[in-house]
Amino acid sequence: MIRSILLSTVALSCFLSARPQSGPIIVSSREVIAEMQPTMYGIFFEDINFAADGGLYAELVKNRSFEFTLPMMGWSQPNSNTHSLNENSGMATAMRSGKEHNAHYCRVEVKNDSGYSLINEGFRGMGVKAGEAYNLSFMAAPEGEGIREIRFELIGKDDKVLAGATVAVGGGDWAKYKATLVPERSEAKARLKITFKGQGIVNMDMISLFPQNTWKNRPNGLRNDLVTLLDEMAPGFLRFPGGCIVEGRTLDRRYQWKKTIGPLEDRDVLINRWNTEFDHRPAPDYYQSFGLGFFEYFQLAEDLGAEPLPILSCGMACQFNTGELVPMDELDPYIQDALDLIEFANGPVDSPWGKIRKDMGHPKTFDMKYIGIGNEQWGPEYIARYKVFEKAIKAKYPDMIIVSGSGPFAEGEHFEYGMRELRKLNAGIIDEHYYKSPQWFRENADRYDHYDPEGPKVFAGEYAAQSVAIASPENRNNWECALSEAAFITGLERNAAVVHLTSYAPLMAHTEGWQWTPDLIWFDNLRSYGTPNYYVQKLFATNKGTHVVPALRAGKALTGQDDLYATASVDRSTNEIIVKIVNTSAAVKAQEVVFEGVSRLQSRATITVLQNDDLKAENALDRATNISPEDKEIRTHKNTVKLSLLPYSVNVVRVKRS
Ligand code: AHR
Repeated sequence: MIRSILLSTVALSCFLSARPQSGPIIVSSREVIAEMQPTMYGIFFEDINFAADGGLYAELVKNRSFEFTLPMMGWSQPNSNTHSLNENSGMATAMRSGKEHNAHYCRVEVKNDSGYSLINEGFRGMGVKAGEAYNLSFMAAPEGEGIREIRFELIGKDDKVLAGATVAVGGGDWAKYKATLVPERSEAKARLKITFKGQGIVNMDMISLFPQNTWKNRPNGLRNDLVTLLDEMAPGFLRFPGGCIVEGRTLDRRYQWKKTIGPLEDRDVLINRWNTEFDHRPAPDYYQSFGLGFFEYFQLAEDLGAEPLPILSCGMACQFNTGELVPMDELDPYIQDALDLIEFANGPVDSPWGKIRKDMGHPKTFDMKYIGIGNEQWGPEYIARYKVFEKAIKAKYPDMIIVSGSGPFAEGEHFEYGMRELRKLNAGIIDEHYYKSPQWFRENADRYDHYDPEGPKVFAGEYAAQSVAIASPENRNNWECALSEAAFITGLERNAAVVHLTSYAPLMAHTEGWQWTPDLIWFDNLRSYGTPNYYVQKLFATNKGTHVVPALRAGKALTGQDDLYATASVDRSTNEIIVKIVNTSAAVKAQEVVFEGVSRLQSRATITVLQNDDLKAENALDRATNISPEDKEIRTHKNTVKLSLLPYSVNVVRVKRS
């Protein structure tokens, strides 16, 4: 909403008091430099920091299917003791099912129903809201008639009951049961307590609790507040499922998309690679249930109006870990996974994989255009494998755009080698990653000014300014980092002829369950917020325009002269000119912008400002919009606007041609 502060007077007085800069920025709105790709600003999603299980995926029960390495992890039995016969309570034990998938269930033996309970702790607790409905479901197979009822209660930190439901069970066969729980008060740290009526044995599995209020009210759905934050970014693509998680620490633990679709109970649970990655942030209870699997990722991309961009293993485990390799003559199953994925997404409903998509409820194709091969691979081993993938994919799907990778570093031996080889292969799009200091971002706004527009396109696939050092647990999502990223992004946008996709990484983090910081969005079990970096992304994405035009001062692009950075575009659908100027200095800057090539501008225009005087300032759960954009109205005069750019500010000016 526009705050109708008529800025002519205020802006003019600031303008007069600020030090004038060396000449106006000339925006030549008729000289198109490049088309802005609809995919310019997107989302990188990886299940790191409890982003999927415990985060976006709204399931509240941790280890619902008893498939963690320690099958009772997440479950407690306060009145039971493994060293006792538990005559006054009972005991639950993980049992092997004898099946290939869903290999365990839980056998509960109740000896004294007044003394026994089984409790799930959730993901650092369960976030539940007063008056909202929660869908409980479970599989059960009572042995004999001893157990007739099972009671489920949401309990608070103080053990007080927030909601309860009793379910009658019977018959010896496995059956699915359901109930609804409606908590009477909100609680971020609820737990699910299960008690039993009678004495005897009941087998249980897939004990699940979901809010009804998920994104689009879908069962097996996603957290509404988190998807809303993503949706408001208007992302042009959704990259999934990572990141290093694609590669795995070993090949056996790589991400295998075929194991993430179909019935939930048959999706093989896998230890999350971030479980053990950092000694300083261990997460022994971090697993992937794959309830959020490839079908759900495609569906999310569709909901967001974003191009799906899946990344697959190329037969190399993470080179920061084992770097385990598949021999070249055993690469076929990996390539088949890529070909089958394209059929799963785009194939007709009578094709084998298209039918599976249809059976999961989506007969329409997902219209996938991009596929990524490998994440942060480097060296000749990668190039050799990439070539085989490229040949096989292009032979069957010549229009598929293949994303290759230049490795984890923005420069150096591996980067140079990868870029050289991929350019020789005329690769479609190359993924570049940079986790660097804020200063690096400010100093590299011209990085793509010298790339060949005829060469491979760039996917700036993972980047984030690190306030301390790469992946340091002390890193902060502070204003200096966000402002520096904004300065850098002007260079991405100015080079839209080369840069086709960009995304910040990582995307999300649970305030108690994180391994890596900084992250774009933080959340706890009930709340969430966008960081200043989020607002930078959102500002650029929602003001990208359709075509880039020159914005020059003294004949040059602004890439840091006088601490200013600028880019401009036109939006042909709204007939607007959009100018973005980042001021990274501590001073107010008077800056005139002259629009050339326009016969008339409307007199009213808007400026959206993201600003803070304190480079250390941050947002937080209880100060979610501390740093967030403000819209103001400004006036044009003839073909000019006079701006007073606040210290440390990102400014987006939109003017309309009349
Ligand atoms: O974004 C976190 C990690 O950083 C990603 O998984 C990986 O690709 C990069 O090294």
